Amino acid sequence: MEPLIFVIFGASGDLARRKLIPAIFDLHKSGLLPENFALLGVSRSEYSDEAFRENVFLSNDHLEFNGDDDSTLNEFARKLYYQSVNTLESSDYGKVASRLKALDEQYQTKGNCIFYLSTPPSLYETIPACLAAHGLNNEKNGWRRLVIEKPFGYDLASAKALNSSVKRYFDEDQIYRIDHYLGKETVQNMLVTRFANGVFEPLWNRNYVHHVQITSAEDIGVGNRGGYYNKSGALRDMLQNHLLQVVAHVAMEPPITPTADAFRSEKVKLFRSLRPLSKEDVINNVIRGQYMASDVGGEMVNGYRDEEGVPKNSKTETYVAMKFFVDNWRWSDVPFYVRTGKRLPTKVAEVVITFKQPPHTLFKRESSIIQANNQLVLRIQPDEGLMLNVGMKIPGQGFAVKNVGMDFHYSELTDADVPAAYERLLLDCMKGDATLYAHGDSVEYAWGFVEPVLDAWKNDKSIPVYGYPAGSWGPNFADDMIEPERLHWRNPCRQLTSDDTFCQL
Ligand code: BG6
Repeated sequence: MEPLIFVIFGASGDLARRKLIPAIFDLHKSGLLPENFALLGVSRSEYSDEAFRENVFLSNDHLEFNGDDDSTLNEFARKLYYQSVNTLESSDYGKVASRLKALDEQYQTKGNCIFYLSTPPSLYETIPACLAAHGLNNEKNGWRRLVIEKPFGYDLASAKALNSSVKRYFDEDQIYRIDHYLGKETVQNMLVTRFANGVFEPLWNRNYVHHVQITSAEDIGVGNRGGYYNKSGALRDMLQNHLLQVVAHVAMEPPITPTADAFRSEKVKLFRSLRPLSKEDVINNVIRGQYMASDVGGEMVNGYRDEEGVPKNSKTETYVAMKFFVDNWRWSDVPFYVRTGKRLPTKVAEVVITFKQPPHTLFKRESSIIQANNQLVLRIQPDEGLMLNVGMKIPGQGFAVKNVGMDFHYSELTDADVPAAYERLLLDCMKGDATLYAHGDSVEYAWGFVEPVLDAWKNDKSIPVYGYPAGSWGPNFADDMIEPERLHWRNPCRQLTSDDTFCQL
């Protein structure tokens, strides 16, 4: 791989300690970083290089050093540097420029640089402008890439404004908008399941699919992120970005080549096919909820309004469920159901494709259930894997049918840990591969799709926010969204193969 300097803005923040430094250290241990590599942390706090190394690496409690010898730790620690800067002050970026020049000479990094914005979103326009003021966007000597964390915008107008501001200084192919769901192995595996097998794709359309469900549940509450979360809510925090990206992987057409441009243009096509939501759709097909204090496993947990940084009268949703359609040749009239929430019974994310029933119910009278329930479950996390539910004859007399799950677990495929999402995405960016990053257009289309919901919630105060007890599967009203004639939400457990009946929570 080409040499480079990795610059983290917001280096003393939570994301850097929790995700970025651990991911880069893992890349180092796997021998995947280039030989000539240095990392420069930048933020307002005053640190020496030594103090920075100690803070984000050696004493970082998100890192476990089991089995890592001192020489591995010191070798990595020596590559970390720090520069304190007033990030609002353009003239201060001269310090970054001269530090980069010195590191470039020391490490022979050929001028290649990644700038990672792990700062509050209010700086996403300022930092690129200040970098440009010092020529740091210029690719005359080496490449320059800009990674932008979510949230990319607050609504359609702000996402557009941010895109056009950043594009004043960086070209689209220099911009990497990160969505960590795209870095998850299992989200990528959806593409392999669909496009590397002959068996699924012929069924993957309106002729055979009854409906699609996507669930991303978390058992934790908002913790100490109440201040941020209260301005965001579940729709902005999870659905507009992560879950719509998952929808794109489930529903997009096969790209002509496995390249960033081909994937991105299929996604844009898919986002353009989402049926726009009318005000009636928002009222009938979108349910929002907020968790309330409850006893969870013998322990009383706070309601959302009691969380730190959350106003007592907050109407921010911590749960959202939505039904919508994809108006194209493949998916016409197939309902898609998507839901996400905090303080649900367990942490789990999965996609469930429910197939239509056979045209004639031959075994109805003898069967112990009405029909086989053919579902393909693509488990994103945990117990990553895939399960196909099929009907089988119960041995013995007659033709009683039982649903059985044929399951595959990722843990059977490899002894190594499934690489963390950030590890994969950072490595891709270092290699210049933007396939798993969001394109500016698709981010805008995704905002455009949720905009009617944001508008209706803002302008029509009569649209309810349902309370739901912490530890439950959200407001009951969300159950009524799914056609009662056939099935319900699959309420998954931590284990891929079990649902509803017995859960390890
Ligand atoms: C983040 C959200 O983007 O994703 C968080 O801001 C959420 O609120 C997190 O907890 C979930 O990610 P994961 O990988 O744990 O499913």
